[in-house]
Amino acid sequence: MHYRALIVGKSETGAIVCALGERTLAALTQGYCTIRIDYSAINYKDALAAAGHPGVARRLPLVPGIDAVGTVVESSVDEWKVGQAAMIAHADFGTSADGGFAEYAQVPAEWLVPLPGELRARDVAAQGTAAFTAAQCCDALLKHGVTADSGPVVVSGATGGVGIFAVQLLSKMGMHVVASTGKPDRADWLRHHGAREVVGRDALDDRSPRPLLSAQWAGGVDTVGGNCLSTMLRATRPRGCVAACGLVGGADLPITVFPFILRGVVLAGIDSANVARAERSRLWELLAGAWRLETRDLVREIALDALPQELENIRAGRIAGRVVVNLGNANHESGEMTIDRT
Ligand SMILES: NC(=O)c1ccc[n+]([C@@H]2O[C@H](COP(=O)([O-])OP(=O)(O)OC[C@H]3O[C@@H](n4cnc5c(N)ncnc54)[C@H](OP(=O)(O)O)[C@@H]3O)[C@@H](O)[C@H]2O)c1
Repeated sequence: MHYRALIVGKSETGAIVCALGERTLAALTQGYCTIRIDYSAINYKDALAAAGHPGVARRLPLVPGIDAVGTVVESSVDEWKVGQAAMIAHADFGTSADGGFAEYAQVPAEWLVPLPGELRARDVAAQGTAAFTAAQCCDALLKHGVTADSGPVVVSGATGGVGIFAVQLLSKMGMHVVASTGKPDRADWLRHHGAREVVGRDALDDRSPRPLLSAQWAGGVDTVGGNCLSTMLRATRPRGCVAACGLVGGADLPITVFPFILRGVVLAGIDSANVARAERSRLWELLAGAWRLETRDLVREIALDALPQELENIRAGRIAGRVVVNLGNANHESGEMTIDRT
């Protein structure tokens, strides 16, 4: 049985090619489930995978897509029954194994996670890795003592997926959120989602050689890396904490040790891919409950055919919010729960 997917591979000349194509569903092996994917979503990491970035696309050809939510249509294990909804969460999904930009996925059963709380499939995909990472970042700030009374907290790349959810979460926690963005036309939108102040990217791009800057931030969530992260750390107040998760602005970190040894600033590294099951569930339960996010005006839905263009857009930093891919399978009420392999 064939199904549609976005496939990244190499041409005969060695060039990276990313295009829609067909995959074949293999016979189910023991320990695996087949998922009919209802929704996926685009992350910056997927754009890197689609461009064949070797640090992300660890084998070619590959179906990218690190987020997917769908329905079990074949199961070889007792824990998962046909018809159950699940999200797929594993570091290899969409990086060294085929991912979510496809109508189906076959994955080890232990990669499946039940949908948290009352969240529906589309909500879970809309939030996806971006919301989970934002939750990890905010959790790190809380664990390091940053509270609503500590002072302003700053979020870089604020209109991006991780950024906008971090703005929402920190604002929910009563914090004074300063959103940094390269999209000044999105200032009102950022305020609507909880930012008290909106600043340009240049506010977090100090190019002076000063090892410490005027101490402004009680904490920060950085999705950009490079000199942005350096500026944030150098401008963080004593005992403050910056959670670093991204590299859209660069993977280097030009800094001295002074923020750490003179101000006791904590740099909390965030890795959303390799998280123990219990910790993953804890954060998702928060996202389904006390930390419930507003996704209404920040999600755009597209079909699989529109993916190549949208991946270009996210790579160029042109997207605000989240883009959900509707695989056209979501009509559970009338849809068959099993697959026809004839
Ligand atoms: N560590 C982890 O586990 C983990 C998990 C998820 C994501 N990430 C990383 O976090 C970052 C954000 O991911 P995402 O999925 O939220 O991406 P995204 O939706 O594309 O958002 C990235 C945002 O960064 C800003 N930006 C883009 N290019 C920039 C540049 N050259 N310099 C400064 N800012 C720029 C833009 O926001 P503004 O226009 O508002 O500035 C853009 O919307 C990526 O590096 C991603 O790989 C890491």
